[in-house]
Amino acid sequence: MARKLAAGNWKMNGNKAAISEATKLAEMFPVPKVDVLLCPPLTILAPMADALSDAKIAVGAQDCHAKPSGAHTGDVSAPMLVDAGAQYVILGHSERRTDHGETDQSVAEKTQAAFTAGLSPIVCIGETLEEREQGEALNVVGRQLAGSLPDASDLDKLVIAYEPVWAIGTGKIPTLEQIAEVHDFMRTTLLERFGDGAAAIPLLYGGSVKPGNAAEIFATSNVDGALVGGASLKADDFGGIISALEAA
Ligand code: 13P
Repeated sequence: MARKLAAGNWKMNGNKAAISEATKLAEMFPVPKVDVLLCPPLTILAPMADALSDAKIAVGAQDCHAKPSGAHTGDVSAPMLVDAGAQYVILGHSERRTDHGETDQSVAEKTQAAFTAGLSPIVCIGETLEEREQGEALNVVGRQLAGSLPDASDLDKLVIAYEPVWAIGTGKIPTLEQIAEVHDFMRTTLLERFGDGAAAIPLLYGGSVKPGNAAEIFATSNVDGALVGGASLKADDFGGIISALEAA
């Protein structure tokens, strides 16, 4: 059985004042029954990690470079994220694939860097609306899954997030049957490639998860949690999603 994880991706939102939402969440969930993670923008990662040092809520980043150090202006490495207090890093989010031209190959290199540094990578995959309408969703997910993971993956650390691009920030979600189809396919594919250890890889769903739809999503086959964007910015909203996962 995979552990359950409620992960918040703040994207390019939040400043120092917003750390109070994280500490409020920690007060609401002093001992959460599931793993809880916040991935704030890099500028507040270290102060958020400090503010949550006594809390049972982990902090993560939204990207890292594939190299541990060097002449890469503006980039940050996986060991630097560990030094700042991160335990996780989101990799290959569709916004980075689109905005920064990230490929399966570059995501696989970053994922390897995360493992080497001792971070848990949350590797994101998912089809566009056009690909879904062409009946290509499983092919795209299969191709991204194959290409974005290194062979030497640390199965105890790896997390996968299925985020259909058309469901992100749109209020639209796939049917529960569609989510189950993709998540079952991901589990089967991972078991075939990595063996029995892949049964414990948390498979998150992401895209317009809200307190109101979380319970039915978490009741869906092979959904072990969520990667939440907009609804993770406020402790009350994210708290509703965490509660739904605790009850699932
Ligand atoms: P929303 O929850 O805002 O749709 O964003 C999902 C997402 O991209 C999380 O990484």
